[in-house]
Amino acid sequence: MLTDEKQRHPFLQGLSKHRGAPPTVVVIFGASGDLTARKLAPAIYNLSLDNLLPPEFHLIGYGRKEMADDAFRRAVAESVGTFSRREFNSDIWERVGRNTVYHHGGYDERPAFDRLRERIDVIEKDLGREVQALFYISTPPSVFKPILENLGASGLARRHQHTPFASKVVIEKPFGSDLDSARDLNRVITQQFEERQVYRIDHYLGKETVQDLLVQRFANTIFEPLWNRRYVECVQITVAEDLGVGSRGGYYEQSGAMRDMVQNHTMQLLSLIAMEPPVSLDPEGIRDEKVKLLKAIQPVSVDESKPDVVRAQYTEGLVGGRKVPGYVDEDGVADDSSTETYTALRLNINNWRWAGVPFYMRSGKRMARRVSEIAVQFKRPPGILFSDAERFDLASNTMVIQIQPDEGTTLLLNSKIPGLETRTQPVKMHFRYRTTYGSNTPEAYERLILDAMVGDSTLFIRGDETEASWRLITPILESWRNLGRRGMEGYVAGSWGPLASERLLWDNRHEWRRAGP
Ligand code: BG6
Repeated sequence: MLTDEKQRHPFLQGLSKHRGAPPTVVVIFGASGDLTARKLAPAIYNLSLDNLLPPEFHLIGYGRKEMADDAFRRAVAESVGTFSRREFNSDIWERVGRNTVYHHGGYDERPAFDRLRERIDVIEKDLGREVQALFYISTPPSVFKPILENLGASGLARRHQHTPFASKVVIEKPFGSDLDSARDLNRVITQQFEERQVYRIDHYLGKETVQDLLVQRFANTIFEPLWNRRYVECVQITVAEDLGVGSRGGYYEQSGAMRDMVQNHTMQLLSLIAMEPPVSLDPEGIRDEKVKLLKAIQPVSVDESKPDVVRAQYTEGLVGGRKVPGYVDEDGVADDSSTETYTALRLNINNWRWAGVPFYMRSGKRMARRVSEIAVQFKRPPGILFSDAERFDLASNTMVIQIQPDEGTTLLLNSKIPGLETRTQPVKMHFRYRTTYGSNTPEAYERLILDAMVGDSTLFIRGDETEASWRLITPILESWRNLGRRGMEGYVAGSWGPLASERLLWDNRHEWRRAGP
């Protein structure tokens, strides 16, 4: 079966040979949560379908709710049925299901962790060989610390340390809420684990198109010579969603677009598109370059007379032809909320390659459409030959890397309109994943869980990387806290954001492109 699958899906080729994980027990903290149902369980199922789980694979759901093993197994199977990208097949699931159990306990309850350790020891004894434990922390951030401390105190963090079966810990976002809290969390982690055991998740790094950024940049020779201040006019990163905050108002009030999306996802896109070529593809080679890039970004001006950053909240509007409420009317949101649902930034990278090239980033909820893309806009040619605007409609050459949906790359060129006189118009060259590779590519979480099991941390965030990003963002958040609602812009739900975000670009005679392929 695997062979057929490999023929149909080129991304599976060569995988199992190099990427066998050792016998593994995955323990999910927050097992009855939304992420487990929507992402983690379906990812584990799809890995099993592709034969990428080790034959000795065990799943333990850890949670505060009392639940029998059977009930947990049923709940997991149900979520796979609902959310998996491929159809549920009970025979495939049976292999995982029979090794799936539920462990009831509090997150600050040491005896429950001791019992967990005994459980893992029994699995190991029954198998007659060592197993690695992978702890996946997918709980609210308020219990990250007690979990980490109890993993340490119970000896679970140090199981088989310094062997290929050393424990691993995967930590979901949010990783802190500012620089101090991120440092504090890093301190607690490194008291219990070594950095090489730690996998901080940013699911954007697991997306196929995000992984492809390095390939497009460094496996082709035609882009790199142009990838600098001599040829690039500006770079625009858009991560737009058409959804609102839905039932997550309570969480979002504490977070806002800056913490929820920019500090992690958009900053990762920025690092990958702008970093220097790494010396190798190993995790440290890549992460070193990302950190260097983040450190080269100049502090963002929050000066009210000429800010580099804009924040806004959506007001009532139409999305997909449907009337939707404004942010402050959403469930769990305060009437006088000062949480931003949109933010745009203008960044300068102070290094040899990028000095003087503005990098614009924007992210928001309830925008005109769901689209994430990176647009590298090149300088215009000198207006010598084609300067008659009537006849020559010239666009700036732009390379648009479409992260989602409609994954692919588009190159905007100028071309002669066929005919007896010379007139031009912009045209697009497209590469579409769907056309070339088919549509059923793995979900980000499949790749990330597999990588964590085999011990490849390339697509995870290192401790100093998350701190470098928070160092940049924290002064903005502090200034917003002091301002309260002052300076908060509004934008109509279903639009492309507030006017102030256009002004951010006009200063440099730029404008946001209409995002999309
Ligand atoms: C999450 C944010 O990290 O990313 C959500 O917390 C957001 O608010 C989501 O909706 C977007 O992810 P994706 O993969 O749908 O772009």
